[in-house]
Amino acid sequence: MIRIAAVGDVHVDKDVVGRYRPALEQLPGRADALLIAGDLTRHGTVEEAKCFATEFGGLAVPVVVVLGNHDHQSDQEQQVTEVLTDAGITVLECSATVLEIRGHRLGIAGAKGFGGGFAGACASNFGEREMKNFVGVTEDISARLGEALRSVECDALVALTHYSPVPDTLVGEPLEIYPFLGCYQLGNAVDSAPTALALHGHAHHGSERGRTPGGVPVRNVAHPVIKQAYNVYQLLSESVDAELVSA
Ligand SMILES: [Fe+2]
Repeated sequence: MIRIAAVGDVHVDKDVVGRYRPALEQLPGRADALLIAGDLTRHGTVEEAKCFATEFGGLAVPVVVVLGNHDHQSDQEQQVTEVLTDAGITVLECSATVLEIRGHRLGIAGAKGFGGGFAGACASNFGEREMKNFVGVTEDISARLGEALRSVECDALVALTHYSPVPDTLVGEPLEIYPFLGCYQLGNAVDSAPTALALHGHAHHGSERGRTPGGVPVRNVAHPVIKQAYNVYQLLSESVDAELVSA
């Protein structure tokens, strides 16, 4: 069995440093890796990225993240990525990594994702150039996430995004903003590979549990949803949901 801890939308700035650390220090006994589903910072500045690296770097378990929309706010995503990478944190964007965990290979493919909406209520690749550009980004990121997922050779495969691949985990958010919270193309990407679990954030008022059309369990790990430093999920196990740890 592999246990992964996951959280998203931690929105770190100076005032948050120290808030997560006590629970993070307990990770080695609770989980084999920590996955963070984007919105690591408030406004995507280098200073905030350094605060995030202080809080989430140097842990005794591997840390793998994707960026979120907030991490793009200052157009410094490249510098933010460098700060995180220098702190030993793996940043995925339409790419994948494999962690060796007690003889098992944990594959993680990640991407920020994008909006667009879901079946029956989605943007389509038609009309104005601006709309085609918008949907084009959605389709491109989703296609490249699918390629990353299918490229991994591992024993347990996880998809890590910021935007949601399904509407199930958005329940609680206003219906009107679903197209800005995720897209069905990400769900198709998840279903195009033998994915064991899909993790995302972004929907602070959503719900934790959902499933893709292909049956892959989806978990919204946004901090305001899970209401603790991280949830723990199990792979190579009958159920992905571990007993709740108090973190
Ligand atoms: Fe977000």
